[in-house]
Amino acid sequence: MRLIALALLLAGSFQAAAQEAPSAAALEQAGRLYTQHCQSCHGAKRFGGAGPALLPESLGRIKADEVREVIRNGRPASQMAAYADVLDTAQIDNLVSYLYQPASTAPNWGDSDIRASHRLLADLDTLPSTPQHGADPLNLFVVVEAGDHHVTILDGDRFEPLTRFPSHFALHGGPKFSPDGRFVYFASRDGWVSLYDLHNLTLIAEVRAGLNTRNLAVSNDGRWVLVGNYLPGNLVLLDARDLSLVKHIPTLGQDGTPSRVSAVYTAPPRDSFVVALKDVQEVWELSYAGEPTFIPRRIQTRDVLDDFSFTPDYRHLLATSRKAKGGQVIDLDSGAAVIDIALPGMPHLGSGIYWKRNDKWVFATPNVSQGLISVLDLQTWKLIKEIPTEGPGFFMRSHINSAYAWTDVFFGPNNDAVHLIDKQTLEIAHTLRPMPGKNAAHVEFTRDGRYVLLSVWDRDGALIIYDSKTLEEIKRIPMNKPSGKYNVGNKIEFAEGTSH
Ligand code: HEC
Repeated sequence: MRLIALALLLAGSFQAAAQEAPSAAALEQAGRLYTQHCQSCHGAKRFGGAGPALLPESLGRIKADEVREVIRNGRPASQMAAYADVLDTAQIDNLVSYLYQPASTAPNWGDSDIRASHRLLADLDTLPSTPQHGADPLNLFVVVEAGDHHVTILDGDRFEPLTRFPSHFALHGGPKFSPDGRFVYFASRDGWVSLYDLHNLTLIAEVRAGLNTRNLAVSNDGRWVLVGNYLPGNLVLLDARDLSLVKHIPTLGQDGTPSRVSAVYTAPPRDSFVVALKDVQEVWELSYAGEPTFIPRRIQTRDVLDDFSFTPDYRHLLATSRKAKGGQVIDLDSGAAVIDIALPGMPHLGSGIYWKRNDKWVFATPNVSQGLISVLDLQTWKLIKEIPTEGPGFFMRSHINSAYAWTDVFFGPNNDAVHLIDKQTLEIAHTLRPMPGKNAAHVEFTRDGRYVLLSVWDRDGALIIYDSKTLEEIKRIPMNKPSGKYNVGNKIEFAEGTSH
């Protein structure tokens, strides 16, 4: 996938260089083309419809060249048709520029829009409250298939799908579970939140909480869902039973500066949500204990935060800013910044994990700009080791019953490799190439840690199941870009070795 993206990028950059910035007239013409050819599916305000939202924020993760490519050639097995025979090259180039133009008035998505989007799809009161599928409810996997926007619910003992259903376009940030593991909550890039009943294998409710969403968190008492948005920059609080709107919380810094939300996670022992803000130097803690007000406690930080991870006791935050060359540690009790840590490789902290090494907690994180795994001592905050890998990684996983921490080589020519790091020696013990030439990524363990499920992130990819000790391949299920997979038991226990 990355190689293709890179090839397109190289092919496109030549053209982009030759091309001038579009004139106002060209943009206006592109606007008319949009109305004529695209609006029926992508919406009058580009908020989306049958097709995804096409706002600059929505297209932030894909490059202009990919957008051009999609318009020219369409997307296979979707309603997105090829326009190469309908529009000429200049028209397509202008359309691309048009889509990256910010809207003249900031797009709004208010309470009435949220309420109007709310749909109840099943009546919970009439559904059985026990699992109806015969599999172990705590060893199910929720598998997100990004290639064609589907979700598979997999029996984690037999490795057989129980069901498969379409999701909203581009699920974001990993699904989250109710504390009993019955319900799973999905957020999509375009702000759709879905509530799914794993006991009855049925969708319960949906709501569009924003136009561009980072992720969501579920409170540890199962009562609240908090959604973190880029557009509009705010938090949206939903009733976890049916996703009805409770209220939106504007994310304004102390001095009134509006901010987008980088990430929101629940901190179970603190009975609170912790929110990283993207545009102001604050972390927020919102308690949900008792009768909560959801008035944020503001913690000043030394930099804006892109992502963070908790220590095992949830006392400290390990946070990074993409701009800064390091990480900072924030004490959630005192609100003080404890220390800065040199982490030069742009760590993907949200995917970092911890384990016990010689009775001490260590924390390991992949880095997205350098091929190394950073390992920290969580007592001294010292960098113990940088483990060189075959390229920058994105995901890391382990299990208390496994001797290895698995990490991918997500970026670069060796992205078909995964490394297994010995959790005690901190050396690479094994390197696997599950499908040579294809991007091997995210892994997740079964609840007991005996098996590992690995994603090969390719259109002709697969979910591969390994014995976590012998590393023998048990099964291969073909899938279209299976991105993440989430084990219900590991997730609701916030198990060691899995990120939150
Ligand atoms: C019949 C409905 C339909 C029409 C008309 C349509 N699209 Fe799409 N478009 C879609 C769907 C559905 C997708 C999502 C495809 C997928 O699953 O990846 C999509 C995807 C896209 C994407 C990729 C977005 C992303 O984030 O990956 C772009 C860009 C896009 N369309 C642009 C256009 C433009 C420009 C036009 C008009 C020239 C247009 N589309 C017309 C349905 C449509």
